[in-house]
Order: sequence, then C-alpha cells, then structure tokens
Amino acid sequence: MGDPQQIRRWHAYATPDTLIEAAAADIMQNADAAVGKTGSFRIVLAGGNTPKALYRKLRHMNAKWDAWEIYFGDERCLPPDHPERNSSMALDAWLSHVPIPMSRIHVIPAELGPEAGASSYARILKDAGKFDLVLLGLGEDGHTASLFPGKKWGDRDAFPVFDAPKPPSERISMSASRLGFADGVFFLVSGESKRQAVTDWRSGKPIPASGIIPSSGIDIFIESFLIE
Ligand code: 6PG
Repeated sequence: MGDPQQIRRWHAYATPDTLIEAAAADIMQNADAAVGKTGSFRIVLAGGNTPKALYRKLRHMNAKWDAWEIYFGDERCLPPDHPERNSSMALDAWLSHVPIPMSRIHVIPAELGPEAGASSYARILKDAGKFDLVLLGLGEDGHTASLFPGKKWGDRDAFPVFDAPKPPSERISMSASRLGFADGVFFLVSGESKRQAVTDWRSGKPIPASGIIPSSGIDIFIESFLIE
C-alpha cells in the first residue's frame, strides 16, 4: 500500500507545546461542528507519548462532553487497567476527568487476546459508521496505530496483530481502510526519532502511515525541524 493519492496537509510548529495547542484547538472546532450537525462527535484515539500530551491538554478544555463518543485505533493485549494499555493512558490523562458517559467510551477488549478481542471490536465498529475524526501517531519505523512495516495492514475492520516490533507483540488494530473512513484524520508527529519516517513518508515510500487515505485528506501536526 502507500497510495500516492494520499492528500497531506503539513502544519508545522516550533515546539511540541504549540503543536499540541493547535491540534487541541482544531479538535474542539471539529467537535463543535459535528455536534452542531449531528448531535454527536465520534473520535478515534491513538496511543503513544505525543497523543498523551494532547489528552492532558484536552482534559482542561470546555466541551459538550456527553456528546462525545470515543473509539480506539489500536490496543495492546494486556490485562484490563494495565498502565501500558492505550485505553488506560487515555482514561488516566483525560477521559476519567471529563463527563463522557462510560457507555460512550468503546475500549478494545484486548484482554480477550488478539483474535477474540478483534472479533468483538469488529462487531462494535459495524455500528459506528463514519468517524468524525481519527487521531494517529507516527512510529520511528513509519508505523501508525498497530500497522507495522512489512506486516498485514488489515483485511478486517479490527484485526489481530501477533508479532509487532513495538512491545507488546500482541495487539489489536483497526485496519488502514477503517481508520481512513473518517471526515478528518490528524497525525501528531514530534521528536527527532521520527526524522527517517517523515523523510520516507514525504518521499513517497509506502510506510504504513501513507496507507490511511480518507477522501478529504489528512492533517499532519508536526514539529517544524522535521520538515525543514
Ligand atoms: C501505540 C500506538 C502507536 C503510537 C506511535 C507513536 O500503541 O503506541 O498506537 O501507533 O501512536 O508509536 O507513538 P509516540 O508518540 O510515543 O512516538
């Protein structure tokens, strides 16, 4: 994969803080627009350190939280409440501090193991429709969600991952096409370690991040030194 038709809008910021601030403001704008239009805002969350800084910011913002519906792009197969789970991180940094009803927070049941957890989440995704916004990080090797280079990027909406190079090796991920079924996709990219992946991406190499192809294009919030 790595379709040349991916429309990329690069938004460069001098520091991680200004990047996070801008992404948070744009998320709130998207949320207001979606809630005004449909009465709800369906957002998919990412794991990782850059998203975590964003979640800490969102926690202090004003929103019509009871209209938000939360999904996860990927999850690590660890016991429920394990601190290394993407859902635990998001709950701890943000979700448990705002009044989003728990019934609207759709955690991937990764404690069931890759196969059973993926099948269970695929059933939830069936009713989810098109997402309003998908948040994604970028790994040093160009991975996004749990779509890794040289591996399958998903033939089912949610699929099991068994040999991920980023621990833990067992994971569950939404497929590239399910992640791209959204009105907006924001990538959050910061840190020197992402330089090679960004260079590959910009030069058209088929890294996993280039396989997310929503028709409206993607917005990449990135530290400016990575694209200078
Ligand atoms: C995870 C993620 C993963 C992450 C990237 C970027 O399970 O960690 O979902 O895809 O978003 O690896 O993470 P960083 O922002 O920590 O580099």
